[in-house]
Amino acid sequence: MKELIEKLIQEAKEEIARASTLAQLEELRVKYLGRKGSFTTIMQGLKDIPNEEKPAAGQALNHGKKSLESDLETKQHNLEQEELEKQLNDDTFDITRPGITFPVGHIHPLSRVQKEVEEIFGQMGFAVMDGPEIESEHYNFEALNVPKDHPARDMQDTFFVSSKHHEQHGRMVLRTQTSPTQIRSMEKYGAPLRAIMPGRVFRYEATDASHDSTFYQVEGLLIDKDVSLANLKGVMTEFLTRLFKRETKVRFRPGYFPFVEPGIELDMWCLLCNGKGCRVCKQTGWMEFMGAGMVHRNVLKAGGIDPDIYKGWAFGFGLTRLVMMKYGIDDIRHLMNGDLRFLEQF
Ligand code: PHE
Repeated sequence: MKELIEKLIQEAKEEIARASTLAQLEELRVKYLGRKGSFTTIMQGLKDIPNEEKPAAGQALNHGKKSLESDLETKQHNLEQEELEKQLNDDTFDITRPGITFPVGHIHPLSRVQKEVEEIFGQMGFAVMDGPEIESEHYNFEALNVPKDHPARDMQDTFFVSSKHHEQHGRMVLRTQTSPTQIRSMEKYGAPLRAIMPGRVFRYEATDASHDSTFYQVEGLLIDKDVSLANLKGVMTEFLTRLFKRETKVRFRPGYFPFVEPGIELDMWCLLCNGKGCRVCKQTGWMEFMGAGMVHRNVLKAGGIDPDIYKGWAFGFGLTRLVMMKYGIDDIRHLMNGDLRFLEQF
């Protein structure tokens, strides 16, 4: 019996030594040491052999089992090591390769300049107000002294929103200007008032390099008892000087907007030639910058402010145009189409 056991162990050891995969090794473990394996069978057969042979057979069996277990363990360790090395060689794993980078976005040039504008006006005591992009005709036109059927309505091509009507406030429109927020601010905070109102506006307009149906404006409003356009000139000169970080000049020309009287257009010194005259400013030395004027009596009244006590000025400039000027962008569409090749330059 003892010889039989030793022979079996010898066979098992040889097979284990020959195994070349972990799967094969597992099969051998089951074959010899498993619950239905050879060793279990012999163990169960021990009771049938003559008593005097039992101790020697039992000892050989235990000894063999231990020896096999240790062989299996060593072999498993070796095979695992081999497989790891094989994987490393197969995958040509390059530990010097840079890791995966996750693209990090950054603030859009429009938002960045808007924030700068808000900061500069904030330092001059202006609050920042917000208004809805879908407005009523009342706020977008009537309250701004642009009555129904008045030819001044044609100054701005309007998107009308078909689905919604406001009982007292007429049809709903995509606001064509940030000026309706003037009325909303007056209604909410009364006089005196000092605020800017940046936001998105919409015009029914064919798109080209300098026009888009969606763009951004910044409205400004200052209401107090003793106010004149001289203050506006001072505020705008200060604002542009801080924004462009160099000396700037502005000039007034007469201009018409129904919600101001008198109305003006404000030009700024050409940033490229410093007023000398160049291609960009068409040799004039000046660039059109914004509309402005003294707030019309009717507008103050519409906002609930007494025009016999208070007066004020208002302005509106194109934030989109300002960004184009600041960064020398020649096509307005770059700012709206989300092309990363463009945006990543900022
Ligand atoms: N809302 C005018 C526009 O969009 C600009 C403006 C604002 C003019 C305030 C005068 C006063 O053209």
